[in-house]
Amino acid sequence: MRIGILTSGGDCPGLNAVIRGAVLKGIKSHGHEFVGFRDGWRGLVEGDVMDLPRHSVRGISKQGGTILGTSRTNPCEGPNGGARNIRDTLAYLGIDAVIAIGGEGTLAGARDLTDAGLPIVGVPKTIDNDLDATDYTFGFDTAVQIATEAIDRLRTTGESHHRCMIAEVMGRNVGWIALHAGMASGAHAILIPEQQVSMDMVVEWVMEAHRRGRAPLVVVAEGWVPAGEELPHSVRGTDAFGRPRLGGIGERIAPQLEQLTGLETRATTLGHIQRGGVPTAYDRVLATRLGMASVDAASKGLWGTMVSLRGTEILNVGLEEAVGNIKKVPQERYDEAAVLFG
Ligand code: F6P
Repeated sequence: MRIGILTSGGDCPGLNAVIRGAVLKGIKSHGHEFVGFRDGWRGLVEGDVMDLPRHSVRGISKQGGTILGTSRTNPCEGPNGGARNIRDTLAYLGIDAVIAIGGEGTLAGARDLTDAGLPIVGVPKTIDNDLDATDYTFGFDTAVQIATEAIDRLRTTGESHHRCMIAEVMGRNVGWIALHAGMASGAHAILIPEQQVSMDMVVEWVMEAHRRGRAPLVVVAEGWVPAGEELPHSVRGTDAFGRPRLGGIGERIAPQLEQLTGLETRATTLGHIQRGGVPTAYDRVLATRLGMASVDAASKGLWGTMVSLRGTEILNVGLEEAVGNIKKVPQERYDEAAVLFG
C-alpha cells in the first residue's frame, strides 16, 4: 500500500511523533510505502508531495512543529478541491490511503470526503483537548507543562513586587489548559469559557489571596467572557482569513482589576509559546501510539474512522462521532478546582 500523510490546522507538539509512528509501523509490520502532503490539505489538493522513507523520520518524535508543514486549507473548496478532483489526484500519484492528522475542522473535512468514498483515516490533534471522541489529545500535556512553568515564574516576580499577576493561556472554546495549568500552579482564580464568572467574584478571590499575604495569581483562558459582557472576539475583530481574533482578555481585565482591587496588576499572554517546542514524554508516547494505530486502521480499510484514546487503549471510532462534539470542562471539575481559589 502507498499511504499519504498530512498534518492540517494549527500545529501541535507531537505531530512529528505521529508521522514517525505511522511510517515505522507501516514499513516494519505491513511493508507499506509513505509520502507526505505538504501543508495539510493544500498538498493533497495540489498534488504537492514528498517521499517519506524510513530515514526521513529518524529522531523526529522529539521535534516540535511538523516536518510536513500545515495550513487551514479546506479540501472541499477551490478549483482542485472536492472529492472527485482529490480522487483523480490520488490515482495520479498512486496513493491508496490518506492519514489526516488534525482537529475538528480537519476531521470534518475527512468525514465529508470519506462519505464521498475516499479512503481516509483520521488522527485527532489539538492542544485544547476539546475533542469528545478521545480522552486526551497529544499536545495538551505539553501545553499544560509550558503554561505551568510560565505561571510558576509569574508567581515569583509577582510575590517580589506584591502584585496581582494574570496569565492568559490558549483555549478558544474550552478551558482545559487553564484548568490544569491553574491547578498545577496553585492559581487563586481560574477563568474559563464554560463558566459565567462576574468581575466582582474575581475581585473577591483576588482580595482573599491578598489578605492572606499572597501575590494573587489569576489564570484566564483566551475565550473567557466576564459574566454580562459580549463575546471576546468582538473586541479584536477578525484576522485576514476571517477567523475571530482571540487573545487579549488578560490585558483587557488587568486595568479593571487594578482599579477594583487597588493592587498593581500585570498581565502576560502566553500565546503560541504553548504550541511550540519539544513535546513531553507523555505526548510523544500517545502520538506514536496513535500514528501506529492509524496505519493498522488503514491496513484494514477502516475508512471514515479515527483513532482514539479510551482509558489506556487505542480504539477506532467513527469520524462522525469526532465531529461536532466539543468536550467542555464539566461543572464538577470546575467546582473541584474552585475549592482552592482565593
Ligand atoms: O485550536 C488550537 C488553538 O491553539 C486555540 O487554542 C487558539 O485559539 C488557536 O489555535 C490559535 O490559532 P492560530 O494559530 O490560527 O492563531
